[in-house]
Amino acid sequence: MMAQTRRDFIKKTAALSAASLVGMQLPVDVNTMARAAEDEAWHRGTCRLCGVGCRVELGVKNGVPFALRGVADARTNYGYLCMKGMHFWKCMGHKDRLTKPLYRERKADPFKEISWDKALDIAAERFSSAVKAHGGNAVAYYGSGQCLTEETYLFQKIMRGGLKTNNVEGNPRLCMASAVGGYMTSFGADEPIGGYADLEKAHCFFIIGSNTAEAHPVLFRRIMRRKLDNPEVKVINADPRVSQTSRIADKHLQFKPGTDLSLLNAMAKVIIDEKLHDQQFLGNYAVFKQGKEAKAASFDEFAQFVAPYTPEAAAKTCGGTITADDIRQVARWFATSKGTVSLWCMGINQRKQGVWANNLIHNLHILTGQLMKEGADSLSLTGQPNACGGVREAGGLCHILPGHRPVEKEKMRNQVEEAWGIPLGRIPAEPGLHTMDLFTAVNKGTVKAVWINCTSPAQSLPNCDLYNKGLASDDCFIVCTDIFKTRTTEYANLILPTAFHFEKTGVYGCTERRSQLTRKAIKAPGEAKPEVWIAREWAKRLATKLNDPVIAQCVKPFDGLEEDFALPQAIWDEYTQKLTKGRDNDLRGASYAVLGRMADGVQWPAPTEEFALKGGTVKKFVKGLDPMADSESKNDLPYQFYGPAHEDRKLWIWLRPQAEPSEVPDADYPFYLSTGRIIDHWHTMSMTGRIPELLRANPYAYVEINPKDAAKLGIKPGDMVEVRSRRGVNLLPAKVYEGPIEGMVFVYWHDQEQTRMINKVTKDDYDPASKEPEFKICAVQIQRVSGPRPLTPFLV
Ligand code: MOS
Repeated sequence: MMAQTRRDFIKKTAALSAASLVGMQLPVDVNTMARAAEDEAWHRGTCRLCGVGCRVELGVKNGVPFALRGVADARTNYGYLCMKGMHFWKCMGHKDRLTKPLYRERKADPFKEISWDKALDIAAERFSSAVKAHGGNAVAYYGSGQCLTEETYLFQKIMRGGLKTNNVEGNPRLCMASAVGGYMTSFGADEPIGGYADLEKAHCFFIIGSNTAEAHPVLFRRIMRRKLDNPEVKVINADPRVSQTSRIADKHLQFKPGTDLSLLNAMAKVIIDEKLHDQQFLGNYAVFKQGKEAKAASFDEFAQFVAPYTPEAAAKTCGGTITADDIRQVARWFATSKGTVSLWCMGINQRKQGVWANNLIHNLHILTGQLMKEGADSLSLTGQPNACGGVREAGGLCHILPGHRPVEKEKMRNQVEEAWGIPLGRIPAEPGLHTMDLFTAVNKGTVKAVWINCTSPAQSLPNCDLYNKGLASDDCFIVCTDIFKTRTTEYANLILPTAFHFEKTGVYGCTERRSQLTRKAIKAPGEAKPEVWIAREWAKRLATKLNDPVIAQCVKPFDGLEEDFALPQAIWDEYTQKLTKGRDNDLRGASYAVLGRMADGVQWPAPTEEFALKGGTVKKFVKGLDPMADSESKNDLPYQFYGPAHEDRKLWIWLRPQAEPSEVPDADYPFYLSTGRIIDHWHTMSMTGRIPELLRANPYAYVEINPKDAAKLGIKPGDMVEVRSRRGVNLLPAKVYEGPIEGMVFVYWHDQEQTRMINKVTKDDYDPASKEPEFKICAVQIQRVSGPRPLTPFLV
């Protein structure tokens, strides 16, 4: 925290000397100026929005934020920010902020302001009575990739250790569960091996199922810079829709939704046929696997398996303008470049075959040895600032305990129970309900109380109207902790106002295994409180009402600590010191003191302070760079794999066939619908929709239609169009352009307005492996609707 920055100082001295040169009187006297500058401070933290983890500084003057700027030394963003990131601070002090606990007994009643004391009593009463009557599995926590790690960790501790349920889930299930499944099954360990440092060293980028330019703008800027400075660097973009990302591509492969498994297998076939695979790498580090039981396969069996995926056959399956030669060309670029980085996002993850699609990308990297070396990585992009750090690493999903520990392993549960000082066997052996099962259970009435923290399932669940029926029912008690009202708070019994980013202290872990600290810089409005305080105070009441000393034990280490710094610090210390020791995400070196000294943060594994202060592990599994690879080393080879899932410590290449999405166009619903993000908004728009600069830039959702389809249906730009699936309908203005492939329409999912909430239309079928829904593909009919329609943004 600096009272005055170097830039201010230079500016002021320059102004003083310039003024004295021309004999000018400064408008204010120097003493006043110095005092004003002293009240101004820049506070370091991390961006609140996407998963890139841009490092920022919040400018605060007299306790009020006034600007946000990037940190030039930060390895995540080198000073750059995108337009939504630049503006998020305007949520602080926004007139719509929730400032008092609100309660209503029945969902038809109006909300009434109540005290925190009463609010926490009610929350504890409703949860404990559900537990008393029906057991721990009658309640659930549904969190978010936007919660601080300390928040996710504490809530899951109370649920698992206290209330004896693994019903701990979060919105990352809707987002990167397939990426988790892919990393676990291909590499034996979750999260990317490399990171952003590879972007400046890469010679080939393979971007598939990601509109990086709009969803991760600052990271895209680095790719673009690399390409502009080195025109020989190849950029391949594979996507059913031409997007801003395609603009820098040497080759854009536009395929029919759901056919990319064929494309990826065909690339593998070209690599093998042309002997572009890395025989030595395969021999040292890889094995082949097939089927549910992960049965061993041989190289020859793999070659036989991909044999039918000839470039010609794949080009036919993929449709569009892809040719067999295109597939050969991109496979060669991928395999022969000095370093290839793949990047993907929801186009791959939000799929019925999401884990398989992830596996097939990893296959290409393992086959060609495009891993671990400089400029090579298989890098999954995340959409939320702490989906990795909080939810994936700290126990935020129903099947994973803190420190990447699977719930179903008794030894793992016991390690956690020991760390918490609670009886062995306290944590149930069964994983809890995953997101889609949880909201199905709410519909059935078997889950009686849900705590929804910092997320809006009423808008973000696929086929949302179906699940909103359960949320609307008085059979399920809903608590929402949030900063603004959302579509979900409409179904709440209790709305608890929380402190926003920079109004509380804690850690975010971004895409590249990097943990970064944000410290409280300003006061939260009204009675808004940090979630760690809310969770602790709630748990104390649960302990009393259920007369259970083990619940009390879960929060006892945090008793009495002030909530702005000491409390989150104690939670972080417990988690990192007791539960990441010896795990792949070892964060013992990354104390608040160390994180506070870093311009950016620390990449795990970082077992010691000394190593953390150097920034941690740039590349996992590389001996000499990764201390865990050194300590786990079994031979003289340069790489050592480790992690929870592969006892053979090998990379697994999977035989995964092309498979259809669970709904494809037919005579009644002849178009594919796909959804995605745009540059101006973020997720359910509860933040960006309240920032005038961003709302004006993109006030309402529209449906993108290919000109050929539009001509056939007589749809002109701006016409109102009904987009209808078997589940629901939207009414949207048409945008006609060569974006989506013929036969496909595209709608962004941010809009909260009821007639433009596209998740009423999307499909809730999910990947049986990851349980992540297939948001990206469903079948719709589209129809022009006559008559003028007034279009208003959801918030005016
Ligand atoms: Mo994802 S939107 O990073 O959970």
